[in-house]
Amino acid sequence: MRRIAVYPGTFDPITNGHIDIIERGHQIFDEVIVAIAKSSDKNPLFSVDERMKMINAATKKFKNLRVESFEGLLISYVRNAGAKVIIRGLRAVSDFEYEFQMAITNRKLYEDVDTVFLMSTVKYSYLSSSIVKEVAQYGGKMDGMVPTVVSKCLKAKYRTLKKGL
Ligand code: COA
Repeated sequence: MRRIAVYPGTFDPITNGHIDIIERGHQIFDEVIVAIAKSSDKNPLFSVDERMKMINAATKKFKNLRVESFEGLLISYVRNAGAKVIIRGLRAVSDFEYEFQMAITNRKLYEDVDTVFLMSTVKYSYLSSSIVKEVAQYGGKMDGMVPTVVSKCLKAKYRTLKKGL
């Protein structure tokens, strides 16, 4: 039986921290699906389509990896995808309480599901999509934070926004 794992997130945008988790998950599972949550309540900077293009470009080297999007409950998506594993990254102890609550809720909704937590590498433990957006917005260097394709998209996006287009 193929071991399919879903790695969900808003990915607005994908960072090197996410790539690190994808790489680790990719070594463990037969297939990893990166599932982009629409997350309208987070008011994302990038559309789902833009996020998907960035992730596809940044993860080209990984075989057996798919990028999809979903709306609504994660667990419905996981069930429909035929997966029984959700991958989540842990950057610090502070991530744990929220992750614990999500994992237990997801299992309550679908008892066959397991959440597998992968530890981020220390050098990315400070990263989040919001912090990268803040750096980009004020013209800071994003070296080592995001793949090149993402830093280009961030610069272009803020240029467009500043011009009021
Ligand atoms: N490296 C870098 N950044 C990371 C990271 C890592 N390894 N892991 C998490 N982050 C960042 C994310 O980029 C995100 O940054 P942001 O808040 O600045 O955007 C932040 O940490 C929080 O990440 P996360 O908890 O993964 O939130 P998310 O918005 O990316 O994903 C969902 C949360 C989409 C998985 C969750 O809300 C969900 O399942 N929604 C669907 C509805 C549902 O089923 N709800 C019930 C769940 S019990």
